[in-house]
Amino acid sequence: MITFDVITIFPEFVKAFSQESLLKKAQEKKLLKINVHNLRDWATDPHKKVDDKPFGGGLGMVFKIEPLYEAVQDIRKSFRSQASGSRPKVSKTKVILFTPRGKKFTQQKAEELVKNKRLIFICGRYEGIDERVAKHIADEELSIGDYVLMGGEIPAMAVIETIARLIPGVVGKPTFLKERRLGVKSGQKQGFLEYPQYTRPEIFSPRLAGGRAKKGVVWRVPKVLLSGDHKKIEEWKREQGRVICK
Ligand code: ADE
Repeated sequence: MITFDVITIFPEFVKAFSQESLLKKAQEKKLLKINVHNLRDWATDPHKKVDDKPFGGGLGMVFKIEPLYEAVQDIRKSFRSQASGSRPKVSKTKVILFTPRGKKFTQQKAEELVKNKRLIFICGRYEGIDERVAKHIADEELSIGDYVLMGGEIPAMAVIETIARLIPGVVGKPTFLKERRLGVKSGQKQGFLEYPQYTRPEIFSPRLAGGRAKKGVVWRVPKVLLSGDHKKIEEWKREQGRVICK
């Protein structure tokens, strides 16, 4: 089982996400676990402040190192106590810091990260995080794309979802992942094939604002999908789809 520990100043946001749908079921089935931690629990001042002004000047506030250091230490310690007396096995733990400056997160990265037992995610906010966190506490810095969000919570959730889908039993039937995964055997690139999908009705008629059908306009399901010819359907899926590379 893989355990995610998310450190954030918006724990309710991440908790709500972790308690919905497939992730909730996956946790009930003990396929994964998501612990959400409020960074302010490690703040030492009475106002629970976790940020401060940047040295050298500049706009905005910067996350302080101490609460993050203590949080990561305590979470690591909790792994050890769970290992109940035996030698702590923390080698398969990774600490990841989300920042737009990080390395781009990809499907390949997800395949790599799913091999860990524990993943500790640090969600930044405000203008930044004391650089010593990236240098000395995090093993890796990840970005989910070349745009700047308000914080690392959405990136953490995106990464959790991507990794969770790779755990057998989390999505759909056990064969679901296999069906879309392209193997080396077939001489294809490795990865997932994402192709267009349709369901009933076979023909859809869009309407004008008044409710009347748009004359002569119908949106049809591609004929090949209704043909029952599995070979042709497979060909079509490969033609129309895109391989999300490993
Ligand atoms: N924090 C703010 N923007 C981000 C991004 N694009 N990826 C990861 N963390 C972020």
